[in-house]
Amino acid sequence: MRIRTIEWVEDAIKIIDQTKLPGKLEYLYIRNLKALWQAIKELKVRGAPALGAAAGLGVYLGLKDYKAGNFPEFKAGLDRVISYLGTSRPTARNLFWGLERMRWVAEENKDKSVPCIKEILLKEAKKIIEEDRASCRRIGYYGAQLFKNKDAVLTVCNAGILATIDYGTALGVIYRAQEEGKRLTVFACETRPLLQGARLTAWELNKKGVDVTLISDNMAATLMAQGRIKKVIAGADRIVANGDTANKIGTYNLAVLSRYHKIPFYIAAPASTFDLTLKSGRDIPIEQRQAREITELLFKKPIAPKGIKVYNPAFDVTPAVLITAIITDKGVIRPPYKINIKKTLGR
Ligand code: MRU
Repeated sequence: MRIRTIEWVEDAIKIIDQTKLPGKLEYLYIRNLKALWQAIKELKVRGAPALGAAAGLGVYLGLKDYKAGNFPEFKAGLDRVISYLGTSRPTARNLFWGLERMRWVAEENKDKSVPCIKEILLKEAKKIIEEDRASCRRIGYYGAQLFKNKDAVLTVCNAGILATIDYGTALGVIYRAQEEGKRLTVFACETRPLLQGARLTAWELNKKGVDVTLISDNMAATLMAQGRIKKVIAGADRIVANGDTANKIGTYNLAVLSRYHKIPFYIAAPASTFDLTLKSGRDIPIEQRQAREITELLFKKPIAPKGIKVYNPAFDVTPAVLITAIITDKGVIRPPYKINIKKTLGR
């Protein structure tokens, strides 16, 4: 299977519309900024590293036809585009990392002509994409060393091809282990409310020939108690200086369960997911999403009383103390995270 989650094609951002999976593999060509904002909000494109790529391409898309005679005029447009895209989803660090990287590159080249700066921005966005492809493979390389043949692995949400450009972070580790000849069996939590585990992870693992079994989220403890899970691995939306990690709601549950059952709990993420400006997980902005995601099954079928009160945070924070190791593109980081994150990422 050779697919790209997001790329620049025919003067547009081409994405897989992930809301259509697993029923249909359908591509969307996004040609304006509002459509991109909407696609991010509605999770047509999603997953932290893919959002970093969307940020890069989005900045170019929002500025490519923008008329500016000089850098200050161009900068006004750039700031507007960056602020607007930054309002789409608050938690994934990669989105803001991508936006800030584009701002920095524009400023670095402020002495060049506006058309030239635009070209540089497109090149930078493409570079973000190529870097993600490489960094996911490095995560896979480091992570696969922690997995043995026949390990049964539990994962949550989707941290695979569909959350990155074409390989994945947590699932990249599984793909790499498989490429090395290790046969892993994977249990995928369905990941309520939007079912990224059932719709996306089960779909891509299946396509890649990985032995995958789908479970509902509340079955994890039972499998662990039965001794059927050897390792847990999840992606990350934001990792802060002390190692606390925000990821899809339900990740924290799995970390607590893993500790009780003495199962290693791994996080896999590229350097672009780290936010060393924040000291602890309490500072991470957690996205709250609309009630319909809980009260209706994929916006189609009502499953709760009309008007019922709903609480729907999209992410939770796993305290660093529950994380056995963080697998990054620069190596595997182990506790004490406050010291070792800086040491590894600084390298
Ligand atoms: O709401 P989503 O689907 O964007 O949430 C995604 C996740 O929580 C992923 O696990 C995370 O972004 C890591 S992706 C490599």
